[in-house]
Amino acid sequence: MTPDLDKSLVETAYARWAPIYDAVCGPVMVKGRRAAAAEARAQGGKILEVGVGTGLSFDDYDASTEITGIDLSTPMLEKARAKMATGRYPWVKDVRRMDAHAMEFADATFDCVVAQFVITLVENPEQVLSECHRVVKPGGRIILVNHLYSEVGVAAAVERWAAQKTRGLGLRPEFPFARLQAWAQANSDAILVERRKIKPFGIYTLVCFERAGPSLAA
Ligand SMILES: C[S@@+](CC[C@H](N)C(=O)[O-])C[C@H]1O[C@@H](n2cnc3c(N)ncnc32)[C@H](O)[C@@H]1O
Repeated sequence: MTPDLDKSLVETAYARWAPIYDAVCGPVMVKGRRAAAAEARAQGGKILEVGVGTGLSFDDYDASTEITGIDLSTPMLEKARAKMATGRYPWVKDVRRMDAHAMEFADATFDCVVAQFVITLVENPEQVLSECHRVVKPGGRIILVNHLYSEVGVAAAVERWAAQKTRGLGLRPEFPFARLQAWAQANSDAILVERRKIKPFGIYTLVCFERAGPSLAA
């Protein structure tokens, strides 16, 4: 049986990823990252980036937003802080080491919470979703982008095989959409508002939840 991810494994993995992360994961994940940030910009206001990593998404925001980032990995955050120090991202207010399972923010702090390529690799995805839901304002959105498990066919078989090989890299390629859906079904004020594949190849899926309440745009 494939072991599940835990926090220490994730921290060890991202300490290794940090020096090469932008070169390896920058280009291959750019479409997903841009799609999620575009949805977040449409919400505007105070945006929390959960698992902000090296800050590759900073370019995808603008002065209509105020970005706060959190991440478990100090080496990843050091890269993000180096980007902030260039002065090119005045909309990035703060990045902090924080565990997404137990955020230090007050309830209803943010207009929007974004997690790009994160939810499938945290130790307890449902707990992290509940924390995202707690810190977003009523009427605000949680925007996720990820590769999700194919569930059927050859791709699913390859992903199950890959799961055994990639745990040490901090990955969970067999993570299904059904798990996100089940979380929303168990939370009466979490509404699934969007699920779409990102063009052109449909490798990544964007999933959007809204916290029930008056629309922030109103
Ligand atoms: C695949 S990287 C994605 C980074 C960035 N969002 C991007 O799109 O490039 C996943 C990030 O999630 C962070 N992470 C994993 N578990 C976390 C947790 N429990 N709390 C906060 N960050 C976490 C990792 O340290 C890593 O930086």
